Amino acid sequence: MNKTSDLRIIVLGAAAGGGLPQWNCGCRNCAMARDPTSGLRPQTQSSLAVSLDGESWTVFNASPDIRQQIQNNRPLQPRRLRHSPIETVVLTNGDIDHLAGLLVLREKQAFTLFSTGAVGRIVADNPVFQVLDPELVSRETIEIGEAFSPLSGLEARLFAVPGKVPLFLEDGEPDLGIEGEHTVGVELKAGGRRVYYVPGCAVVTDSLAARLRDADVVFFDGTLFSDDEMILTGTGRKTGRRMGHMPIDGEGGSLDALDLLNIRRKIYVHINNTNPIWRAGSERERVEARGFEIGYDGMEVRL
Ligand code: MLT
Ligand code: MN
Ligand code: ZN
Repeated sequence: MNKTSDLRIIVLGAAAGGGLPQWNCGCRNCAMARDPTSGLRPQTQSSLAVSLDGESWTVFNASPDIRQQIQNNRPLQPRRLRHSPIETVVLTNGDIDHLAGLLVLREKQAFTLFSTGAVGRIVADNPVFQVLDPELVSRETIEIGEAFSPLSGLEARLFAVPGKVPLFLEDGEPDLGIEGEHTVGVELKAGGRRVYYVPGCAVVTDSLAARLRDADVVFFDGTLFSDDEMILTGTGRKTGRRMGHMPIDGEGGSLDALDLLNIRRKIYVHINNTNPIWRAGSERERVEARGFEIGYDGMEVRL
């Protein structure tokens, strides 16, 4: 194995949009997360950080909580006056939980922003993002399947996964399960290791299953445990599938879809605050018994 450096991955935020607790939610999990004695710790919104040397970092998705995430993770903090170890940011879709943190990354700091054309247009079409000085923040469009390097020595590729347009661009009933530039997963390769980050996925197609086969680590969409969870908990009217997220459990769920693919570590991320896997109980046991791990803020994976 031509292992040259450590691949270091930190789960900056394990929760889905809204975080845990969500500002306006009093569900069981959100109530527990507000109670320091409950054992359920608050979790920030969807993001991963990756480094090969511990000095330069790339961040996958700019969560609205990125300020707190930097505060919580020393490796992402400035080493000197006006500095950031975050060299690049990669977006996997245009949802608020993955985009809004770009506004936190203003203040005259250079970095490179990578995204597909479709997601890049969402940023370009929203003038508020002009706060990122174009002299310092370069925006690069990455084609599906094109190799790029978010860090020197790290090979990345974006691949289309079934999904939909961001919530704020929905106009009537959206097309569910479109495969294109709106929702992508990321493939990372370094030192002979192969890692995937797929925080949003409507369905695991045969081609996606083939891609993920034999991976070292897969960070996967764990939004809802069951498709009708929002309805059952009284927190919403939509199914997971209507939101562009396949459920963990049940027919066509990720527990079954990622089974038998010989993936060394399967870690759920982008977990909605309603999801029962956040707390001890039968659902969590079921997921763990099937060989899945439940991501949490600050979880670190080294390869
Ligand atoms: C999602 O993952 O479905 C979105 O983050 C929803 C949202 O924008 O709140
Ligand atoms: Mn989301
Ligand atoms: Zn809640």
